[in-house]
Amino acid sequence: MYICLCNGFTDRQVRSSAETGSASVSQVYKALGCAPKCGKCVPMVREMLKSVGMLPTEPESA
Ligand code: FES
Repeated sequence: MYICLCNGFTDRQVRSSAETGSASVSQVYKALGCAPKCGKCVPMVREMLKSVGMLPTEPESA
């Protein structure tokens, strides 16, 4: 599934970038050889990094 339409990268590319050491949103873009343009995909990239354990998840608010 496409995550970023501006740069044309997919969830698989984000996941493999995270698995090979990208530990922040900006590192993912760097590893994929691009930069955020419109920024709509940034929250999705962040969530994907959290889901693979590369970013800490925020504690649940009580
Ligand atoms: S959708 Fe990724 S920068 Fe626009």
